[in-house]
Amino acid sequence: MRIAICPGSFDPVTLGHVDVILRASNLFDKIIVLVLTNSEKKYMFSKEKRTVFLNKVFSTYDNIEVDSFEGLLVDYAKSKRAVAVIKGIRSATDFDYEMKMSLINKELNSDLETLFLASCPDKMCLSSSMVKQIAGLGGDISSFVPKSIYKDIMSFFEREEKSNEY
Ligand code: PNS
Repeated sequence: MRIAICPGSFDPVTLGHVDVILRASNLFDKIIVLVLTNSEKKYMFSKEKRTVFLNKVFSTYDNIEVDSFEGLLVDYAKSKRAVAVIKGIRSATDFDYEMKMSLINKELNSDLETLFLASCPDKMCLSSSMVKQIAGLGGDISSFVPKSIYKDIMSFFEREEKSNEY
């Protein structure tokens, strides 16, 4: 069985992530969507919440599994005998960052390949930070996030708003 990992922060998962993960699932026997920690980021949603969101989104797909891990991606990949890591690329900036990350991962585990999937044109401007910014300012994010988690995300922001009231 050929297993690939789609790693990320997913804070929260967007339709851009979903597009890449579904396309990756057509290329491998099994995809593990892996929630990891990027030490350079401060998260809005806890790792548990981000994992719950992903489980909700992918629960109906037989060859897509969701997991979370605290540690190096290469160590997790080795433990699951995964052969590849898949990352979506929206821009030259993404490519520059992901290329460096893939070289580091290759250095740490030479058996692990990284594949880049180009983002669909209509998802190129989409990012988790954009979703958080729009939702935080009361905008409509329904066309940016999966339907199954839209209400969960909105209720998080409504609670935030209430807790900021005097
Ligand atoms: O969605 P992101 O934030 O771009 O994902 C980055 C992530 C979480 C995949 C990356 O930071 C990662 O792999 N973190 C786990 C620790 C690790 O293996 N780092 C690579 C060597 S620096």
